[in-house]
Amino acid sequence: MIPALTQFGEQMSHLTGVRAIMKDIIETLRAGQGKEFINLSAGNPVILPEVEQLWRDCTADLLASHEYGEVVCRYGSSQGYRPLIDAVINDFNQRYGLNLSDRNILITPGSQALYFYAANALGGYTTEGHLKQIVLPLSPDYTGYGGVTLYPEALRAYKPTLDLGFEPHRFKYRPDFSQLEITEQTGFVLFSRPCNPTGNVLTNEEVQKIAALATPHNIPVLIDSAYAPPFPALNFTEMAPLFGSNLVHCMSLSKAGLPGERIGIALGDERIIQILQSFQTNLCIHSSRYGQAIAARAIASGALANISETVIRPHYQHKFAILEETLDQTMPQSAPWFLHRGEGAIFAWLWFKDLPVTDWQFYQELKQYGVIVVPGSPFFPGLREEWPHMHQCIRISLTAADSEIVTALRHLANLVDRLYTQTPKPELAVRG
Ligand SMILES: Cc1ncc(COP(=O)(O)O)c(C=O)c1O
Repeated sequence: MIPALTQFGEQMSHLTGVRAIMKDIIETLRAGQGKEFINLSAGNPVILPEVEQLWRDCTADLLASHEYGEVVCRYGSSQGYRPLIDAVINDFNQRYGLNLSDRNILITPGSQALYFYAANALGGYTTEGHLKQIVLPLSPDYTGYGGVTLYPEALRAYKPTLDLGFEPHRFKYRPDFSQLEITEQTGFVLFSRPCNPTGNVLTNEEVQKIAALATPHNIPVLIDSAYAPPFPALNFTEMAPLFGSNLVHCMSLSKAGLPGERIGIALGDERIIQILQSFQTNLCIHSSRYGQAIAARAIASGALANISETVIRPHYQHKFAILEETLDQTMPQSAPWFLHRGEGAIFAWLWFKDLPVTDWQFYQELKQYGVIVVPGSPFFPGLREEWPHMHQCIRISLTAADSEIVTALRHLANLVDRLYTQTPKPELAVRG
């Protein structure tokens, strides 16, 4: 039976961005039975033994406690499980000298849910029929933003400027303040810091400038801190969370080893928190309390922040160092390849200027060498103008073994050499 779908049904029953590519990757892996692929596409974090042990210990502690029945056998408050709320508030107040109260926090079933609430409570059509835009100030950004709004026309991303020349074969995106518009037509502003897919960390000044543009119109600025300190602390450059009247600090415990338990956390002005909380009550009542109860233990004891700094961050920083070294050793020096500065997250982002094929064709060609990466074009949700750069990038996951990264990058270097130095095959000469 194929039921008739509403507009929203149509919208939400399609996979967007990388999820659509993942389907191709799964089919490739299935069809290539016997053929070994090095998969550098994963967004799933690595299971690090120390991190798994932490969650195991917290679970054992919960199981042995009187709290267990209360946690799993009862509904709770939509705002979140009280011990987790207290643990996060105490941690942030102490760590950053803040004065947050329990009115400033909401726990959600993963941070993706949080962006869905915001996208549809603050973006889309007002009761007067005006379109409120969801502004992504620096494109590329997290592909998942492409799927959160019921009104795709609400999403508006801005092309960045490119910082080049500070080091050979490196670059960095910067917000283009000469183009960026945050006006009364903006519903809210959203960006990831550190950024998935690029590893970019917007500077304090850049964030403050964005916040200042939004303040006069009472526009919330949501900072997606899925990779930020204090957990998972996947920043390789100095950074601290920023707070302010219109800033909402949005966290996720997924990259701190708990993606299966679905825990997102929003910290911000109580009026914004209240709107998001009501949305959540209507949608799903609350996040899983089992995950919240073990997270409360890991945060209150300081163990999560500690393991983030001593285990999670060094693991991925080491992978990035291997990637950088291998690229410098193996990639053709004469080809115009550029690695985005690795300031955080669990990915590397490569740009091939004047690439003679599209990113999608590059991805297909690399599969022939037994290597799977993610083509870059799905990471530009909401960017309306045609920009060749969108078809010249790839994302490489830092979740593989060291030797796999090295082998895969050697293949990649061979492909790049072939594409730039040899006469392109006719079917590869198409530009996207
Ligand atoms: C930047 C960013 N934001 C949000 C999410 C969603 O995370 P979750 O819903 O698991 O908290 C991800 C997941 O990869 C991400 O990379």
